Amino acid sequence: MDKIIVKGEKRLSGEVEISGSKNSALPILASTLLSAGDHTLLNVPNLADVTTILKLLQGLGAKVTKEKSGCTVSCSSLSSCEAPYDLVKTMRASILVLGPLVSRFREARVSLPGGCAIGARPINLHLMGLERMGAEIQIEHGYVEVKAKKGLHGARIPLEIPTVTGTENLMMAAVLAEGTTVIENAAREPEICDLAQFLIKRGAQIRGAGTGTLVIEGVPRLNGGEYTIMPDRIEAGTFLIAGAITQGDLLVKSVDYSTLEALIGKLTEAGIEVKPDGEGIRLRVSSRVKAVDIKTMPYPGFPTDMQAQMMSLMVISKGLSVITETIFESRFTHVSELKRMGADIKIQGNHAIVQGVKQLSGAPVMASDLRASACLILAGLAAEGETEISRIYHLDRGYDRIEEKLSQLGAEIRRVKDRP
Ligand code: EPU
Repeated sequence: MDKIIVKGEKRLSGEVEISGSKNSALPILASTLLSAGDHTLLNVPNLADVTTILKLLQGLGAKVTKEKSGCTVSCSSLSSCEAPYDLVKTMRASILVLGPLVSRFREARVSLPGGCAIGARPINLHLMGLERMGAEIQIEHGYVEVKAKKGLHGARIPLEIPTVTGTENLMMAAVLAEGTTVIENAAREPEICDLAQFLIKRGAQIRGAGTGTLVIEGVPRLNGGEYTIMPDRIEAGTFLIAGAITQGDLLVKSVDYSTLEALIGKLTEAGIEVKPDGEGIRLRVSSRVKAVDIKTMPYPGFPTDMQAQMMSLMVISKGLSVITETIFESRFTHVSELKRMGADIKIQGNHAIVQGVKQLSGAPVMASDLRASACLILAGLAAEGETEISRIYHLDRGYDRIEEKLSQLGAEIRRVKDRP
């Protein structure tokens, strides 16, 4: 297994190009199942999760051609409606094929995703929505089997929690359903808007993307189409923190400033200079950052996917920071690893009380999930000495060439093979 070794205390400077968004590419690729046409997708990030969803689509009978920074997908003749355990267990987002399959083929069998390191992560709201649209659901042998013999129909779907992939799954199911579907308390993440725009480009009728109410008028069919995936706001946020934690001066390019306002607001409050610069974001730090409190919330609130990275900055800030996680019940697995590097953190329920220390010291640490891996790399960039991060396969699921990009900015970071 590979590991990453970071030699800290190097100030980062220069420009970094952000790749396409993982959490936009996954639903957009799943949505190609909705039509028989050809789809050309550009700015597709080179990630393990993208490889997994492409494998899943191929297993269903899709023809996939990978090109530099993109791919074409054709779902004209599918041969299966089943997403097998082997793939779903490596990536929970495989559940995103459920809505499109039921909508187009009136049936689907998808392995039920289990929990993961960050929480139980049920899919009850995805299933409730499909039931309201006329589907019959059975859970057997670890699979969720969904049938809609007469096809799906429009429905009012009130979501108790604004689930991101739940909203995406139901939006994809509704575009070909008969009649009008209203999704209430829908997620408002920019990735929802990206998916909606791609669907609209192919003939779907969707209003309200980016608001809490989505109104979808079913259409008989969708076309293929070409689309450029939005930049990854979480990758961009991770690089902003890499700049901040090394007292650096960075231009994070190809990213939409407005999608990162909650994070930028907190970085500004911490005394960091962050401003829009052309098609990117400029960050400069001239003194030790101040501690700020963070509470994760659905978009447009502070993203849970940035909580671990922000914590790495807070552990070396001046003062006391309270970090509250409200989205996932166990998203503090990075805390014990940060403590091994000298951080002063106490957990009280869903709060992490972080007392900033002047310096971290490099140590061998273990990554437990994707964003925790990024958090440990960031901590390593600031720490004195070497930090060795193992189990970095999590990192490859969601960061496109992170060591290469950090090296170009002046970081001393390398990937090595662990014991054979
Ligand atoms: N929830 C339910 N029932 C459901 C669905 C969700 O109770 O049917 C709960 C979850 O347990 C959680 C909350 O609702 O407590 C929010 O979960 P959500 O469904 O929004 O999460 P998700 O769709 O599974 C996506 C991202 C995650 C990101 C979350 C929150 C993708 C592929 N994944 O997950 O990304 O953390 O939204 O923003 O879009 C990551 O990229 O590292 C990552 C974990």
